[in-house]
Amino acid sequence: MIDPRLDGCAVKRIAFTEGQISERVRQLGDDVTAAYPEGDLLVLGLLKGSFIFVSDLVRQVRRSLQVDFLVVSSYGAEKVSSGNVRLVYDPQAELRGRHILLVEDIIDSGRTLGRVIEVLGEREPASIEVCALLDKHHATHLTHPPRFVGFTAPNEFLVGYGLDHAENFRHLPYIASLE
Ligand code: IMP
Ligand code: MG
Repeated sequence: MIDPRLDGCAVKRIAFTEGQISERVRQLGDDVTAAYPEGDLLVLGLLKGSFIFVSDLVRQVRRSLQVDFLVVSSYGAEKVSSGNVRLVYDPQAELRGRHILLVEDIIDSGRTLGRVIEVLGEREPASIEVCALLDKHHATHLTHPPRFVGFTAPNEFLVGYGLDHAENFRHLPYIASLE
């Protein structure tokens, strides 16, 4: 397919269209709204991959909340997880006593999330749950399965809607797999 945003790179197929994503994000917003009847809710997006998902998701949640981000470094330009996870930016917000909703673009091995939950859990939040847009369902390292999942991801390398390959393609409004 020809899309000027791809700069000549071939896309194998579109895995999730813009319409499918927005419909599912709307439902996830309803689920999150229903899941937190009371208490202070802090939505924590894992940068950079979740930046579009967080911005769409929070606009579908009909309750008070705050938004912050954290930066974790894992993959670099590789297509496989190194398992080498670092907290590069730590959220400044107080976590104690608040409900934390961690928002992740895609769960692959689950190493990234496992490590982040470990670190944040020490700050005594009221709860920690995970909302992932995509789950590859081979997360064997996950002690804390995601409470909210948008889609089951095909076993392919995906780009778009925040997901990158070597920092490219994050701005695609759909999710595609690369050749
Ligand atoms: P995990 O630690 O193996 O679960 O890896 C999760 C992180 O790897 C995600 O936050 C993404 O940044 C990246 N990742 C995993 N699979 C893909 C993919 O198919 N496309 C783009 N990035 C991916
Ligand atoms: Mg990435």
